[in-house]
Amino acid sequence: MAQHDRFHYKNLDELKEDMTRMGLDIPVSADVAVLSRPIALGERTIPNRLAINPMEGCDGTPEGRPSGLTRRRYRRFGGSGAGLVWYEATAVVNEGRANPRQLQINEETRGDIAATLEELRGAASAAGHGRPYSVLQLTHSGRYSRPGSTPAPVVAARNPFLDARFPEVRVISDEELEQLEEKFVSAAQAAAEAGFDAVDVKACHGYLLAELLSAHTREGRYGGSFENRTRLLCSIVDKIRDRLGEKITLAVRLGVYEQAPHPYAWGADKDDYHRPDYAEPARLVKLLWEKGVKLFGISAGNPYFNPHLTRPYDKGVYLPPVHPLEGVHLLLRAAQAMQAAAPEAVIMGAGLSWLRQFSPNVAAGCVEQGWLKIAGFGRLSIAYPDFAADLLKAGALDPKKTCLACSQCTTIMRDGGCAGCVPRDKEVYLPIYKKGREGKPPLESGRVAEHL
Ligand SMILES: Cc1cc2nc3c(=O)[nH]c(=O)nc-3n(C[C@H](O)[C@H](O)[C@H](O)COP(=O)(O)O)c2cc1C
Repeated sequence: MAQHDRFHYKNLDELKEDMTRMGLDIPVSADVAVLSRPIALGERTIPNRLAINPMEGCDGTPEGRPSGLTRRRYRRFGGSGAGLVWYEATAVVNEGRANPRQLQINEETRGDIAATLEELRGAASAAGHGRPYSVLQLTHSGRYSRPGSTPAPVVAARNPFLDARFPEVRVISDEELEQLEEKFVSAAQAAAEAGFDAVDVKACHGYLLAELLSAHTREGRYGGSFENRTRLLCSIVDKIRDRLGEKITLAVRLGVYEQAPHPYAWGADKDDYHRPDYAEPARLVKLLWEKGVKLFGISAGNPYFNPHLTRPYDKGVYLPPVHPLEGVHLLLRAAQAMQAAAPEAVIMGAGLSWLRQFSPNVAAGCVEQGWLKIAGFGRLSIAYPDFAADLLKAGALDPKKTCLACSQCTTIMRDGGCAGCVPRDKEVYLPIYKKGREGKPPLESGRVAEHL
C-alpha cells in the first residue's frame, strides 16, 4: 500500500513508472484511437467510447424540474463530443430526494426534463457530433434522503458505522419497499416518454437500492440471503422490462464494493474488508444481464463515508489512506471483474478523472484489453466540457483544462449549493462555493479518517 500523494506526472512514462513501483497492472496505451470506435447497444449505436458519468448538479427547482443551470450543464455535455451522457440521480419520489434541489421525474416534470434532452441533442448536432446515447439515472436516496431542510433518512438495515451520522434512522418496511417498485416503473415509463435511450435503476453509493445489497442483518423478504438482498433491484428490473419492453434499454449503475466489516459490507472479503471479493456482485451482474440489463456503470464506495473510494482525489475532507492510483486501480479492476462476469454486456468504468491528461491513455488501454467497453468521466467532464471533442480531434487533452481533483465540486454539495467545477468554471461556481463556505470550518485535508 503506497501513501497518499498528489498528481505530479509530467509525461506518461513517469505515470507508468509509479504504477510499476506500486505493482499496479493498470493498462496504458499511447494510442487512443480505440476510443473513437462506435459500439452497438440494443437498437442504437453509441458514437464513441467516451461517456459522461452521472453527476448531480443539485440545481433543480423545488418541484424537481431542471433550472437554467441544469439546462446549461446538459447543453455543455451535448457539445462535449461524448458518445454517451448518463443523466444525474433523479428521484422517483419526493421523499427519496437527496436534497430539495434534486431532479425528480414524474408526469409533471417529464416535459421539462425532455426539453433538456432536446437541448443536449441540439448542442451535439450544432457541434457536428453524432447523437449522444442518453441514460436517465433513477434513485431513492434512502439513508441520505433530505427532501426538505432537514435529513429524513430511511434505511434498509441498521449499520453501526453509518448510523452514527443519523441516530434517528428508521428502517423501511417490506410493504414500503414493495410499493416503491411501482414508483420506479412509472418513473421509467416517464423516462421512455421523455425520449431517453436507457434508464438506470441506481444501486450504488449507499443509497436505498445499494444499501439493500448488504442488508445481511435485515429480517424478512429483503434481508439475509443473496436472493432477498437483491430482490427489490431484480423485481424493479423485471417489471420495467415487462412493462416497457423494447421502448427503453435497461441499465444499472452498480456499486460493487462497500468497504466495511461483515455483516455490513457488499463485495468485501469477509476476513479482510480492505480487500474486495467480487463473487456476489459478479453473480448479480450475470443475473441482471440474463434479465435484460444491457448496460452497467460500475462504481464503488460511499461518498458520504469513504469518498476516496468513489472518486480518487488530491484534496478532500480527509487525507486518503492510500495513493489515488490505488483507488483508480480498484475502480478499473472492479469494472474488469464485472465485464468478465457478463462479457456481452456494455460495462462503463469510472474513476479516471484523477489521471488528468493521461486519463484517455488508461481508458484506451482498458478498452483494448477488454477491462471495460466505455470509459466514463465524471469530474473531468464538468471541468473540461469539450474534453471528448478535443481528444477525438487532436488525440490529446489540454492539461490546462483538466480536473484538479480538489473536491470543491462535492464540497459545494455538502454545503448545500449547486455543484460544478470551481477552478475551471469560476464565473458560475466560485461565488456559490464562497457563499457555501461562509462560517464553515476549512476542509480537513490533513486528517486521515478514523473509520478507514
Ligand atoms: C459533484 C458530483 C456529483 C455526483 N453525482 C452523482 C450522481 O448523481 N450519480 C452517481 O451515480 N454518481 C455521482 N457522482 C459520482 C461520479 O459519477 C463518478 O463516479 C465519480 O466522480 C468518479 O469518477 P471521476 O473520477 O471521473 O470523477 C458524482 C460525483 C461528483 C463529484
